[in-house]
Amino acid sequence: MTDFAALETELLARVETSDQPRSVLRAPELKQLYAQIRDADDKAAFGASVNQLKQSLESAITVREDMLAQLDRAPIDVTAPMDVNAPLPQLAPAARGSIHPISREIAYIVDIFQRMGYVAESSREIDDQYHVFESLNFPKGHPARDDYDTFMTVEQDADGEPLIAPAHTSTMQNRVMKKYRDSLDHGEAIAAIVPDRVFRNEDLDARHEHTFYQVEGIYVARGVHAGMLIATLQTFLEEYYGQKLDVRVNPFYFPFTEPSFEFALSCPFCAGENDSCKVCSGEGWVELLGCGMIHPNVLRAADIDPTEYTGFAFGCGIDRLIMMKHQIEDVRHFESAKLDFLRQF
Ligand code: DAH
Repeated sequence: MTDFAALETELLARVETSDQPRSVLRAPELKQLYAQIRDADDKAAFGASVNQLKQSLESAITVREDMLAQLDRAPIDVTAPMDVNAPLPQLAPAARGSIHPISREIAYIVDIFQRMGYVAESSREIDDQYHVFESLNFPKGHPARDDYDTFMTVEQDADGEPLIAPAHTSTMQNRVMKKYRDSLDHGEAIAAIVPDRVFRNEDLDARHEHTFYQVEGIYVARGVHAGMLIATLQTFLEEYYGQKLDVRVNPFYFPFTEPSFEFALSCPFCAGENDSCKVCSGEGWVELLGCGMIHPNVLRAADIDPTEYTGFAFGCGIDRLIMMKHQIEDVRHFESAKLDFLRQF
């Protein structure tokens, strides 16, 4: 007895998976059936069943063929070079693009600090009040908070306080010190920089932009003192500007350092010899960055014992560094996306 139902299931499955479904009509099982019609007891009934099976296959084949026709598969000549079978992707000419001056200079700054044993970390574009204030020794209600909470979100942190677009890279100090805390136990220093984007609600002019870049530096070990801070910054700046420079520190105030300094370098352009120098306004000095010895409360907030370890930190505006290097007169060029500015780099 022929099991028509089982055979039909089997052949339909072949149709549904075949790239050439019509070939199923030439299956040996079908040919065998045709041959059996002649010797069948009930020729008419057997013949009708074979016919029904064939019709069911035919309609499945038509469906399958229609589906295959919709898959537009161009034949591939496997012996031909690949661009005969597929168009090559088009590349825009490289001359049309350039690396943004800030990206390029950040890579150079990172390179210099890496050569002094520092690792580089990224900052964030939104942060909570613990990292922006408490961990940096700004207690609640401290007046210096006003300088650093200029862009706030409607969303709130775990304490119900608004989140903040960081106004400086110092907000990463606590995280970086915690991340590398183990180095101290192994007798190694914590040495990290954070070059990244920061935001302030400024009145925009040639020297003020709402979005700009800073590089934060953090160094913690046993016996770190302010001389090491000054030597590190002088080494960095001399390498960056490719010339010998004098440096000067004046006392200043930041909640997260004690003592705190304002750090100036001798003008890389006129060295104080040009009364009408545009870079230093004839002063001979350029105020460049804030720095100091990390406050004991900031070390404690990162589980570092300030009686055992000391450290220095600094925060330097990257845009200013680059503007001085390339004599760029307006900070707003950086975010302007003006091609005639960008193509010069
Ligand atoms: N975060 C400060 C600012 O943007 C700059 C600064 C000062 C960073 C002293 C420091 C530091 O790490 O120790 O105004």
